[in-house]
Amino acid sequence: MLKSFWLLSALVFLAIASAPLQGGSPQQTGKPTPAPALTPPPAVAPPPPPVQTKNPVKPTAESQAKAKSIYQIDCALCHGDNGNGKTDLAASMELTMDDWTDPKTLANKQDWELFSIIRNGKGKMPPEDPGRANDTEVWNLIIYIRAFSKAPAAAPPPPAQ
Ligand code: HEC
Repeated sequence: MLKSFWLLSALVFLAIASAPLQGGSPQQTGKPTPAPALTPPPAVAPPPPPVQTKNPVKPTAESQAKAKSIYQIDCALCHGDNGNGKTDLAASMELTMDDWTDPKTLANKQDWELFSIIRNGKGKMPPEDPGRANDTEVWNLIIYIRAFSKAPAAAPPPPAQ
């Protein structure tokens, strides 16, 4: 797309630049031919660096089991085993914790925002070091904590006898 744009611009530029060499064409009126405008090509903003906005991870039973164990060691002491944030530590540190068991809590937060908070920390939340959870593990943690608001899947009804 961009390539053909530049090709087209180059052709147009060549056409303008070579016009005076052909001498006065029959269509030309008495007006002096204006010098070909040597406008520089429009400045094209460099494309932004690629940002991972969507969770690139497809959860597997194994990766979610790993996420659960990381969560229980590094996160549950503040956020709670079930993600409701009602923990003794949060209370004693006077932390304002979100309740992730409510589906509305994280509904408007994008995965990349959560990723950035987990990786960099926020306020009194400590950053998660890459040595403790690599990027893939953090993306899996996000899937894990989002699942706190999902009711456990209802057991399928027993087959009719
Ligand atoms: C020391 C307590 C503490 C620990 C440990 C902790 N958090 Fe947090 N977390 C917080 C606090 C406090 C906030 C609110 C930060 C703010 O908005 O100022 C927060 C916010 C978040 C948020 C942003 C969404 C929200 O509810 O505000 C995510 C996501 C999150 N934590 C995930 C994690 C994960 C994953 C871990 C483990 C790797 C973890 N946290 C460990 C205290 C903690």
